[in-house]
Amino acid sequence: MRTQVGIVGAGPAGLLLSHILHLNGIESVIVESRSREEIEKTIRAGVLEQSTVDLMTEIGAGERMKREGFVHGGFELRFGGRGHRIDLQDLTNGRKITVYPQHEVLKDLIALRLRTGGQVHFEAKATGIDGLSSDQPVIRFTTKDGETRELSCDFVAGCDGGYGTSRAAIPEHLVRRDYFRVYPFGWFGILAKAPPSSEELIYAHHERGFALISTRSPDVQRMYFQCDPADNIDNWSDDRIWNELQTRVGGDGFELKTGAIFQKGIIPLRSFVCEPMQHGRLFLAGDAAHSVPPTGAKGLNLAAADVHVLARALTSYYSSRSTELLDAYSPTALRRVWRAQHFSWWMTSMLHRFHEGTEFDLKRQLAELELVASSRAAATTLAENYVGLPLA
Ligand code: DHB
Repeated sequence: MRTQVGIVGAGPAGLLLSHILHLNGIESVIVESRSREEIEKTIRAGVLEQSTVDLMTEIGAGERMKREGFVHGGFELRFGGRGHRIDLQDLTNGRKITVYPQHEVLKDLIALRLRTGGQVHFEAKATGIDGLSSDQPVIRFTTKDGETRELSCDFVAGCDGGYGTSRAAIPEHLVRRDYFRVYPFGWFGILAKAPPSSEELIYAHHERGFALISTRSPDVQRMYFQCDPADNIDNWSDDRIWNELQTRVGGDGFELKTGAIFQKGIIPLRSFVCEPMQHGRLFLAGDAAHSVPPTGAKGLNLAAADVHVLARALTSYYSSRSTELLDAYSPTALRRVWRAQHFSWWMTSMLHRFHEGTEFDLKRQLAELELVASSRAAATTLAENYVGLPLA
């Protein structure tokens, strides 16, 4: 089997890349270990930056997002028992975010890719990538029927997430360096059948820990609260969850609207970057190269930004045979990655309680939140990063 760009992984990065390449007349094949159903039902975060929305729209994948997504012009920071609105639109010349969950983005991209003749091999496990320093690298994979196949290509895009095989094809220490930080807490996430408690998202700081109130639809709400990453969902009855959330977001009479909780899960928080994001003919994009803690919702948006840079570089190569943009891919993508790393770490540190945190740290966090809530300059820094930097 042969193609121009072999893509490992049908997550947001792989699907977006495949479709943008298609629009530019470049052929690709995607090899994905999970089934289509599994991808489409995995629950993930849900905030799209303005530039991700623009990119989806531009490539013809924005129709349902426009119809069903919720556009928010601001969000609320709650601390010290009070809410403070961050007016994103006003602070960023009209930029906004859209609440539209990642698995809906994936459904739209998979449908679009298949409708436009895309080749996606589901339940096909990549077992190795060879020949990265030649001009015909090969992706070896096993199909769902257990057959061994080889996909030879001009370039390999490693879009297979944090636990995929692509990153391992870049020799550690010799070439690749990993930078990471593990946080001493996780997020307990729920989906509940309930009406929205607020028109906009709420990011809450409380001495018992962080909480986030988000939404999915007029009758399904998504909420999270900081927890011990080693905790077990069975320790949390619905009552205990609602009490904890209410305590963390309450204060000035604000009451959460509760309802039946139908999904519970604990996610760990970590910051991770691998450098470089390229080795020979392999280019990593999205979670294969980096992950951010979810505070600030940068994960999916960062994947889209990588793909924007990579697709442009590949398109330039096929039209001119110049490798200039491909050679610049890793440093170009990493600049945005580290900006997003800083922002996600900052939001996380400002809003969460750390085990080792002292009373001093608590007061310092409150002073920092006060600064963001009262200084237009500080709020602008937050807002610009939250709505997302323009694409490079
Ligand atoms: C959601 C997730 C986030 O990490 C965030 O910062 C905002 C919203 C969500 O799942 O809705």
